Amino acid sequence: MGTYSLKKIAEHVSTPKIFQFYFHKDRGLNNSMIEQCKEAKFDAIALTVDTITGGNRERDLKTGFTSPPRLTLASLISFATHPMWAFNYFTHEKFELSQLKDYIKEGSNLAISVGDYFSSMLDQNMNWSDAEKLRSQWGGHFCLKGVMSVDDAKKAVDIGASAIMISNHGGRQLDGSRAPFDQLKEIVDAVGDKIEIICDGGIRRGTHVLKALSLGAKACSGGRFYLYALAAAGQKGVEKALNNMHTEIIRDMKLMGCKKISDLSRNNIRFR
Ligand SMILES: Cc1cc2nc3c(=O)[nH]c(=O)nc-3n(C[C@H](O)[C@H](O)[C@H](O)COP(=O)(O)O)c2cc1C
Repeated sequence: MGTYSLKKIAEHVSTPKIFQFYFHKDRGLNNSMIEQCKEAKFDAIALTVDTITGGNRERDLKTGFTSPPRLTLASLISFATHPMWAFNYFTHEKFELSQLKDYIKEGSNLAISVGDYFSSMLDQNMNWSDAEKLRSQWGGHFCLKGVMSVDDAKKAVDIGASAIMISNHGGRQLDGSRAPFDQLKEIVDAVGDKIEIICDGGIRRGTHVLKALSLGAKACSGGRFYLYALAAAGQKGVEKALNNMHTEIIRDMKLMGCKKISDLSRNNIRFR
């Protein structure tokens, strides 16, 4: 659901790239996204598996949030009270969901809520065999995003996935689900030697990354970590957030007496 085409992203970004894949009912669209990933030489696909239906996003219901924003009295007042944001929005390139726009009207300028999109466009019957077929059709590094149990982690290994993201979608899907970090240890113990494990969610500081790596994760990922910075200060904000993270990781490793990532171990962690 990105607003830039994979081709454009590939022109600007030379570091490794993961495409987050939503499995749509429209198989032509799924095939087209795989082809676009191949053409733009993306390195990996992460299939999100925790959005079989939209979560109950109460704030979205309250604010009437849609992409793109719908013009309502409330949104007009919000534009008026955030003039710089509104100026940027209206003078910026037109909003589009680049990967979807040639396939479905929801990819054009039709305002739709995320929950409605998930429920109407994604394939709610997606199963393990679909995931395996997608992996084989893609042929490259393949990750399942949204795994939260040992059983599912084992199945990810069985279908030949190269990585899993332990994630509850930033707590935006199933109300009351455990935090990914709390789920990490048992999943690492079960499959940590067979598949790469990424801890996704709640990562804000260098020490959060160091704790996850100490437990056996290979990497961490995040959403709000960069989105808050983006909302507050645009590109500069994201650069600052990334620099802060980098500095924190290096400083905190020094404070912990670790010279390299492989020095991080469970000796660093105590559970209450
Ligand atoms: C505004 C917003 C939009 C998101 N959109 C997607 C999405 O389209 N696909 C997806 O797999 N995850 C999506 N996520 C979830 C993130 O990929 C990630 O799992 C989550 O944000 C991690 O939690 P954190 O925000 O605490 O880092 C979104 C998260 C936020 C906050």
